[in-house]
Amino acid sequence: MKRLAGKSLLWIMLAVPGLWMLWSLSQNDVLAMDLLHPSGETSIRLMIVAMLPGPLSEFFGLNRFFRIWLAIRRNLGVAAFGYALLHLLFYILDMNSIAAMVDELGLPGIWTGWLAFALMIPPAAISFNYAMRKLGRNWKMVQRLVYPALIIGLGHWILLDWAWQPALIHLAPLALAWVLRSVGRSRRQRTQRSMA
Ligand code: HEM
Repeated sequence: MKRLAGKSLLWIMLAVPGLWMLWSLSQNDVLAMDLLHPSGETSIRLMIVAMLPGPLSEFFGLNRFFRIWLAIRRNLGVAAFGYALLHLLFYILDMNSIAAMVDELGLPGIWTGWLAFALMIPPAAISFNYAMRKLGRNWKMVQRLVYPALIIGLGHWILLDWAWQPALIHLAPLALAWVLRSVGRSRRQRTQRSMA
């Protein structure tokens, strides 16, 4: 019961920014193009927050905080996909023509977005418990598509923004967590070798 209440609260928190975007659009307070930045940025942020607890808990060790974070990371990943879908919806509304969308498909700033989105589909599609049980070890392999999705998503951001700083600042915490994890792994290997 407590768990269900916690998960419901989490989903409400995750949904509020998206619902706010849709509400503002429906009230004509903003244009669809104004929502491209916040929806894309929220998607990337959620992806990063979903990817952080793995390497951090490996380096610092499992504690209550990391256990909770790990337990909700699938929800964070699904929400990241939800915001990518919303981002696509705003793009479609902004373009308002399939021909115009096809026309700009060749632009690096655009096809990188589509590619990042396509890479997010398989992990999101198998994010439920049944698929996890059925796929076993393959499940993790499919989930690894989020790594190229994130990197290409950040590339998409750099290409559209004409500035690398915002995208790289977002990548920094994750890059640091990856460095810590590999430092931890090589330290453990050295200790094991010296004990052998
Ligand atoms: C589905 C295909 C996608 C298309 C067609 C697309 C297209 C666009 C467009 C047109 C913009 C606005 C650029 C501007 O401000 O003028 C944008 C911004 C952005 N997109 Fe995407 N996108 C796609 C997928 C994604 C995905 C999957 C992510 C995240 C993983 C993402 C992250 C971002 C971010 C962070 C921005 C903000 C860049 C800025 O500062 O303007 N996009 N996208």
